[in-house]
Amino acid sequence: MCGIVGYVGGQQGLNIAVEALRRMEYRGYDSSGVAVVDGAGSINIVKRAGKLANLEDKIAEVGAESLAGSTAIGHTRWATHGRPTDQNAHPHLSFDGKAAIVHNGIIENFAPLREQLIKDGVELKSETDSEVAAHLLAQAYNEGETAGDFRASALKVLGGLEGAFTLLFTHADHPGTVIAARRSTPLIVGIGEGEMFLGSDVAAFIEHTKQAVELGQDSVVIITADDFEILNFDGTPGEGKEFTIDWDLAAAEKGGYDSFMMKEIHEQPDAVRDTLVGHFIDGRIVLDEANISEAELKAVNKVFVVACGSAYHSGLLAKYAIEHWVRIPVEIEVASEFRYRDPVLDANTLVVAVSQSGETADTLEAVRHAKTQGAKVLAVCNTNGSQIPRESDAVLYTHAGPEIGVASTKAFLAQVAANYIVGLALAQAKGTKYPDEIREIWTALEEIPAKIAEVLSCEEQVTEIARTLGAIKTMLFLGRGVGFPVALEGALKLKELAYIHAEGFAAGELKHGPIALIEDDLPVVVVVPSPRGVKVLHSKIVSNIQEIRARGAKTIVIAEEGDDAVEPFANWLIRIPKSSTIMQPLLATVPLQYLSAEIARQCGNDDIDKPRNLAKSVTVE
Ligand code: F6R
Repeated sequence: MCGIVGYVGGQQGLNIAVEALRRMEYRGYDSSGVAVVDGAGSINIVKRAGKLANLEDKIAEVGAESLAGSTAIGHTRWATHGRPTDQNAHPHLSFDGKAAIVHNGIIENFAPLREQLIKDGVELKSETDSEVAAHLLAQAYNEGETAGDFRASALKVLGGLEGAFTLLFTHADHPGTVIAARRSTPLIVGIGEGEMFLGSDVAAFIEHTKQAVELGQDSVVIITADDFEILNFDGTPGEGKEFTIDWDLAAAEKGGYDSFMMKEIHEQPDAVRDTLVGHFIDGRIVLDEANISEAELKAVNKVFVVACGSAYHSGLLAKYAIEHWVRIPVEIEVASEFRYRDPVLDANTLVVAVSQSGETADTLEAVRHAKTQGAKVLAVCNTNGSQIPRESDAVLYTHAGPEIGVASTKAFLAQVAANYIVGLALAQAKGTKYPDEIREIWTALEEIPAKIAEVLSCEEQVTEIARTLGAIKTMLFLGRGVGFPVALEGALKLKELAYIHAEGFAAGELKHGPIALIEDDLPVVVVVPSPRGVKVLHSKIVSNIQEIRARGAKTIVIAEEGDDAVEPFANWLIRIPKSSTIMQPLLATVPLQYLSAEIARQCGNDDIDKPRNLAKSVTVE
């Protein structure tokens, strides 16, 4: 999830682009860069690894006057393909120095395109999937039917790309024009007076104009200082929706939400969708970013998942999925305990280290311990180039984008999705699932982002429930099967955000002690498994709900649509769409995120992005 900006107008493009990048920095800060078209047939680029401040230092070093011009594109990177280095930073320049591009997203077919370019004698300078677009644009512009035609060349390049992308093209022969395109990633046009803007979101240009245009899927837009034209990928006229931005600058940075956490909750459909992109090709699960062979996966006879906090809960779900799909034992261990317990590992053990930040010291030490024991380590990580993936044998990146709220939301759901990809890859390699069964599970996974989007609409209902609950001292969360990790995650969110005592239990365990905690009006969340899944689990949890209701608890029940059996026992009933058993946690977690955020506010903790005593990345053991 990178940030992109573009400008054509009467001001210095460099200043506008750098300012816009500052507003986009929340989208990624592995590197940044700008390209300015100077009007005399040149494009000048400056780019730097690290935060925007590094770019500003570099600009000061080379002198802003060397970057004069009123057409500019800029990029702030959240690294996916390739480490966060100067070379991999955007913009990327074509082999002839005439075309420059910035890109957000993933070009899935970059490997064959890269290969062809190399055959054509083009020297690629970065490890990114993006750079190919710059060279392809130059090739199209320099030769063949599209020679000399910027628009036709850009359309030709776009026609050959697969994946999800926002791309901005500039060409030295065409100062005063930027051509942009979007497929499944965001791009907004800002309409100024005698100037036009492009941004990943409106925060990029809100200080200059409040008039904007939203572009449909697979749209191309050509901006000049006075005009914009929307096309479809085939060059026919396209459509956009003009709107007036009614946010102020602070709201714009959070996408109109009052906190990054709320924004990130709403980004969850994209986080899961982007994590799935490129991992099921021609009917096969592909771990393309995971440097681990099919033969090595086939030899795995035991899996260990090591992680902390929410990432640990995602690992618990991996255990349910992998044991069910692959029929090999999966142990899940809190990372801080792992190496002190002398776990039994060997060369056929796959250790999956799950970490959003990739820097968590406990998880990192667990990785190091696993490696000394000869196990293979696969990192599931959201932060490209961080320590845990660097020290692992292989890595599968989640594509949740930067998570700024300290409490994990979108990264957690992306971890669950990525863990399921690992499970499917193992099932495929070991032959424990037929290809058609894998396809069926994948289809169910692909349906999840749209279903998460449906669940997001429960916000109002959940907020109302939290308000009705008023001041509470404690809260319990119950689940069975895959609902148990969801209960643990719900309790963790409430503890960290509202500073209230909360505990998650396997519902069947209640009668062995915790039921003594139930008293009049105690709120208890119950995550109900699908009645279409393991039948006995559903009826057992219905009994558990009755047991706690009989002792005075108030129940907040999360159940799938059409599950009427639970209705009589719910003080509040939150509906989620139907899904298969293993997929349900990706939906059932969402209402609990809203619930904890609103209870936190009820308790007077308004800054839910920064709960007390916590840090986003825990680099001490
Ligand atoms: C909870 C939360 C933490 C993290 C944990 C691991 O909302 O955010 O429990 O999940 O500190 O962090 P990573 O995934 O960065 O290793």
